[in-house]
Amino acid sequence: MSVTELFATRTEGMHASEIRELLKLLDQPEIISFAGGIPDPALFPRVEFAEALAWATSDTEAAQSLQYAPSEGYTPLREWIVRYMATLGVSCAVENVLITAGSQQALDYLGKLFLDPKDTALVGWPTYLGALGAFNAYQPVYDRIDPRANRSAEEITQKAASRGGRVKFAYLSADFANPTGLTFDRAEREAILAKADALDIAVIEDGAYQALRYSGTAYPPMLALEQARKGDMEACRTIYCGSFSKTLAPGLRVGWVVAAKPVIQQMVLMKQAADLQTATLNQMAVARVAEAVFDSHVAKLREVYGHRLNAMLASLGHHMPEGVDWTRPEGGMFVWMHLPEGMDGAELLAQALRTQKIAFVPGGAFFADGSNRNTIRLNFSLLDDKTIDEGIRRLGEALRTAMAK
Ligand SMILES: Cc1ncc(COP(=O)(O)O)c(C=O)c1O
Repeated sequence: MSVTELFATRTEGMHASEIRELLKLLDQPEIISFAGGIPDPALFPRVEFAEALAWATSDTEAAQSLQYAPSEGYTPLREWIVRYMATLGVSCAVENVLITAGSQQALDYLGKLFLDPKDTALVGWPTYLGALGAFNAYQPVYDRIDPRANRSAEEITQKAASRGGRVKFAYLSADFANPTGLTFDRAEREAILAKADALDIAVIEDGAYQALRYSGTAYPPMLALEQARKGDMEACRTIYCGSFSKTLAPGLRVGWVVAAKPVIQQMVLMKQAADLQTATLNQMAVARVAEAVFDSHVAKLREVYGHRLNAMLASLGHHMPEGVDWTRPEGGMFVWMHLPEGMDGAELLAQALRTQKIAFVPGGAFFADGSNRNTIRLNFSLLDDKTIDEGIRRLGEALRTAMAK
């Protein structure tokens, strides 16, 4: 018998992505890739991190930075996050903050915290692929959350019961979602909170891209809106997941969760069991860099990425054929495109890689049921305007060829 036959049933939901093989071709230098979802390394605050790491490993700090530390996280970093959340309208205490190894770890823990097999997780349609990956290990089923849809709480509850479990949470990004780039306005945020109240479920608010707004006015996080209504963090059902990956550097693996204390306390137990703590050295470096330059650094990112987003939107306007449509985000890292009905984003990728030497991510993987294959995700954070324009021109060519078939 092969050991693979001994794998637990939960591994059945863990699939390698169908596009991974195709994306291996991205190593070829002539390819223009819109497939990434990562920050531009040229913008990392490298000098600041060099200084912070030198400080953290100095005579006075090394005994702490190189040592085990409490699972909740490094206190000065948690205090910084308390102050940062206050700027977003969330009033919380240090005890409401847990430091995680990136927000991805928070998503895993929240799946572990809430989901029994067959429970329903409400997600966007599409939603962040990595969230589906994290939750899948806990064998849920998925249903759709849409603030504009007119589905009653009873209907959603009954559907979950008929599938053998109950609805546990809604997961969403209210700002510049991955993959659509879209944002929920205030009324939509309130509608989701009201639906969560009616369903009596948790809300997992993924704030990974929240700070990266390039135009328009910011809305308060859903956690802030709920707290404004209920008065007290401890009465809130929203669990906010934050990350330094998009603002400072993803390689440090530092993110955080803000939630009512019983949620944090249970997640601390999970963290103890899983990895004891997030790396102390990294937390200390992030705390020091955040304290020194967070606002000015994010202002710089907004300027550069905002410029690239505008370049992409202008190029799309110039080069796209009739019959395709795309989102016009005000922040984040992605533009989302609808291809004509019947066209397949994965097939378009295979063809475009070969003939036009461009790459992007086919959209089907972002849907919990693999539907809507006539979609693609385009990243704009990594390329300069000229390259963006050339890549989008080639995408137009690839689309014209595919539409002529
Ligand atoms: C929406 C969203 N949430 C969470 C993450 C995970 O980020 P990290 O674990 O680096 O904080 C990502 C990464 O791309 C993301 O796009």
